[in-house]
Amino acid sequence: MARHLITSALPYINGIKHLGNMVGSMLPADVYSRYLRQRGHEVLYICATDEHGTPAELAAKEQGIPVDEFCAQAHDQQKAIYDGFNLAFDYFGRSSSPQNHEITQEIARELKANGFIEERSIRQVYSNADGRFLPDRYIIGTCPHCGYDKARGDQCENCTRVLDPTDLIDARSAISGSSDLEIRETKHLFLLQSALAGEVEAWVDERADNWPVLASSIARKWLTEGLHDRAITRDLDWGVPVPADTWPELAAEGKVFYVWFDAPIEYIGATKEWADQDPERRDWRSWWWESDANVHYTQFMGKDNVPFHSVMFPATLLGTRAPWKKVDVIKAFNWLNYYGGKFSTSQRRGVFTHDALDILPADYWRYFMMANAPESDDSSFTWEHFTATVNKDLADTLGNFVNRVLSFSRKRFGDEVPAGAEPGEAEAKLGAEIARLLAEYESQMEAIQFRKAAAALRALWSAGNSYLEEKAPWLEIKTNPEGAALTLRTAMNLIHLYAVVSEPFIPTSAKTMRQAFSLENDTATWVNQDEAKSLAAVPAGTPFTIPPVLFAKLTDEDLESYKERFGGESA
Ligand code: MF3
Ligand code: ZN
Repeated sequence: MARHLITSALPYINGIKHLGNMVGSMLPADVYSRYLRQRGHEVLYICATDEHGTPAELAAKEQGIPVDEFCAQAHDQQKAIYDGFNLAFDYFGRSSSPQNHEITQEIARELKANGFIEERSIRQVYSNADGRFLPDRYIIGTCPHCGYDKARGDQCENCTRVLDPTDLIDARSAISGSSDLEIRETKHLFLLQSALAGEVEAWVDERADNWPVLASSIARKWLTEGLHDRAITRDLDWGVPVPADTWPELAAEGKVFYVWFDAPIEYIGATKEWADQDPERRDWRSWWWESDANVHYTQFMGKDNVPFHSVMFPATLLGTRAPWKKVDVIKAFNWLNYYGGKFSTSQRRGVFTHDALDILPADYWRYFMMANAPESDDSSFTWEHFTATVNKDLADTLGNFVNRVLSFSRKRFGDEVPAGAEPGEAEAKLGAEIARLLAEYESQMEAIQFRKAAAALRALWSAGNSYLEEKAPWLEIKTNPEGAALTLRTAMNLIHLYAVVSEPFIPTSAKTMRQAFSLENDTATWVNQDEAKSLAAVPAGTPFTIPPVLFAKLTDEDLESYKERFGGESA
């Protein structure tokens, strides 16, 4: 069995995430981790909040609280929501942790020692009223091209042209509104990515063929555009300080590392946070240090994150000349849209994670999102599609099967799995079909193709329904009660198999289904081909109970109320 390290892109600390964010990072990582654990692998699934940078500072300011306090609260708030979605992180850390500070500084020192970090002077906009340098996007003014009066210093939102802050007419601070701005010369650290370009390219070439195509195509495109040296420090109060032992002058000026420098390092930092909670038994270095051969590392992220993970973070690690573990497979996602338009945090458009849990349990969302994951293309969320999917796949195909089989069996045969009759041709045919679909499901999971995996899972559920329709135990019982008992026993075995194999997608319902049977030493350990063929893991005589309705059917009134609450129109 292998050791699997799994990380999902770290959610920004400010703001509650929407479903588009969830489906492209944390949820698929959780589904994949659960699957691998069930298959008996050793899995470490790490995530954290990405806490540094200007947006966190501004959000704290808006709430009138210190930024560390803001982050602590926002972290807990996000964590509670992810618990609600049943994301089974091994550890959910914080990029502001002492561990991340330490490792980020250590990596920067190594990069300098190897000649890959250099100090350079740059000219930057300073706001006298705010008493700080302003990042480009916190300078607003009138676009010289289209006249839009709220264009940002990096780009005009209206005409999409890329801008330089000095292009803006009537430039002012987005923080205070003050136009008392000046250009000041200041020193920053630069990561000499150009010097690492050849190595990074060779590194990508060596492994990107094994990545799902979205990630490898973005990585290659980014490489053809060339690797440029990048400023990796900022003038902010909140961040990982530049270490004073190495850069005393910059440290004295209060420079911190740029958020995109320390954030991916938090994958390592959070692993150390995890290990520090139980140092006797947990060894963070065994996951990150000289472990290239024995750890398989998979990262999950939205497509905008791919350049940072496929090129910049590997460049950072390569430049240390230390044996840091680097990613083996990057799985990227396109966008989930809302009625064809963008989910938008700033405009509060779409479905946000806390609201989703407020209306329905996590499993409904987990299944829908993964079955419609934006893998090969952007995909669109509509309430019509959501309610139809829940009703058809979850309520009718799975939930109804479970309830119908258990209720009917109890009515006719009592509280134990009924004995009688030996499996015949229909059961052999069913077993072969289940084994075939299970193999298909496994191979799609292994290829990290969630839509196809979900389709195979759905086909497994459907196969049970077809079998039940074909055998019609409610008729069979009249002429051949022993045969009806066999049918129901077989169907109950399907329920148990569904419980095991559905776990990655719908963990809560899966557990409920599994626990309907009082089996000794029952676990969610994966089903093998023989078990799938014989469908006999739950023997006659096993006591069972009937769980409450697994998935409620959503009505037209539900649909209307969701559309009214969240807005169901195109952008
Ligand atoms: N916070 C970033 C985003 O939401 C992702 C950071 S991923 C990390 O786009 F690896 F850098 F942490
Ligand atoms: Zn413009």
